[in-house]
Amino acid sequence: MKKRVLVKFSGEALADESGFGVDVDRLRFIANEIKTLVEAGIEIGIVIGGGNIIRGVNASKNGLIKRTSADYMGMLATVINSVAMQEALEFNGISTRVQSAIELKQICETFIVRRAQRHLDKGRVVIFASGTGNPFFTTDTAATLRAIEINASMIIKATKVDGVYNKDPNKFDDAYRIEELTYDEALKDEIKVMDDTAIALAKDNSLPIVVCNMFKKGNLLEIIQNGNGEFSIVK
Ligand code: GTP
Repeated sequence: MKKRVLVKFSGEALADESGFGVDVDRLRFIANEIKTLVEAGIEIGIVIGGGNIIRGVNASKNGLIKRTSADYMGMLATVINSVAMQEALEFNGISTRVQSAIELKQICETFIVRRAQRHLDKGRVVIFASGTGNPFFTTDTAATLRAIEINASMIIKATKVDGVYNKDPNKFDDAYRIEELTYDEALKDEIKVMDDTAIALAKDNSLPIVVCNMFKKGNLLEIIQNGNGEFSIVK
C-alpha cells in the first residue's frame, strides 16, 4: 500500500524574514521538498496556516473586529497560501487540487472527502484550504481532521525546529529534544505540540503526530520513508 501523509505548514513558513507575505524562494524550496515525496510514491495532503497574512486571534484582539469575522479572514488567508502552493507545485510538474472548506467556486474546488480521496488515489497532491470552515478552530485542528478523513498514516507538523524540546532551546543551553512522547505529554502547557483540540482529535483516532524541521533538505522524505532523521513523534 502506498503511504499517505498529511503535511501541515505554518503560514510563516512561506513568509520572508519579516514574517509577512509569500516569499517565492521559500515557496520554491517547499515545493521541491514536496516533489521528492510525490516522486517517491507518497500520497500527500497539505494544510497551510495563514499567519503570514492575518491571525484571527490577533486581528480581533481589541474588539473592533469580531473574533468570528477575524477567523473567517484567517481562513481566507489560508486560501491565498494554498493557491500559491498549488502554483509552485504545478510549476514543478506536480498535479494538484485545492479544496476549500468554504465554497469559493471560482478559485478552487469545495472540500468533498470522497473526491479528495480520489485525487489522492490518482497521485495528485490535495491542498486543503479554509481550515475546518469554522471559526474558533486552528489550522492544526483542520490538518488533524483532514489527516483522519483521508486515512493518512501520520500528520507531519513541519516547523522551523527539529522537534519538541523540554524547554525553549533558544533560551536554555541544556534543553533537549524529546524523541517520543504520549498524547497526554504533548498536551502539557510547556510542550504544546499543537492546540488541545488537535491533540485530542489525534489521540482519539490514534493518529501519530510528527514534528520536524522542514527547512532541512531531504528531511521529510527521510522521515516518511525510513523513519530516520531528527524529529519528535507523539503517539
Ligand atoms: P477526475 O474526475 O478524478 O479526473 O478529477 P478532476 O479534478 O480532473 O475532474 P474535474 O473535471 O472535476 O476537474 C477538472 C479541473 O477543474 C480540475 O483542475 C479541478 O480542480 C477544477 N475544478 C473542479 N471543480 C471545481 C470547482 O468547483 N471550482 C473550481 N475553481 N475548479 C474546479
